[in-house]
Amino acid sequence: MDDIVTALRTLFDGECDAIANAANCAALLHGRMPDVNWAGFYFMRDDGLVLGPFAGLPAVTRIALGHGVCGTAAAERRTLRVADVHAFPGHIACDAASASEIVVPLLRDGAVLGVLDLDSPRPDRFGPAEQAGLEAVAALWVASCG
Ligand code: SME
Repeated sequence: MDDIVTALRTLFDGECDAIANAANCAALLHGRMPDVNWAGFYFMRDDGLVLGPFAGLPAVTRIALGHGVCGTAAAERRTLRVADVHAFPGHIACDAASASEIVVPLLRDGAVLGVLDLDSPRPDRFGPAEQAGLEAVAALWVASCG
């Protein structure tokens, strides 16, 4: 994950547009991480999550807080690693190939700006190293857009 964080620092350098940086971030994660079939952002809008830039198959556009893996991570303000999405109550399937998932909240001063979401066709794809790396990615994105 270290090379991805380094590449992101370069991509974000001098750019503070949240959408542009999220788009490059999603493309980089999808392109560089093996066995990742979806990588992208959901942003807090009013009281729910709305789809942002991503790489992968088309996805559900709105997720209520507390629903699915994304809405649960946002409501609980913590990273969720799901080794088997079929065992997660209320999981929202966007790509039938997805077997495991990680969702990292985007936090600024305790407020949830949205979530970073990655899916994998491989069960238990995301471990502690991926969690630490993606939490660093999320923090970089938050810092990049002021
Ligand atoms: N699986 C997510 C929905 C988003 S897709 O994975 C892109 C969830 O349960 O919240």
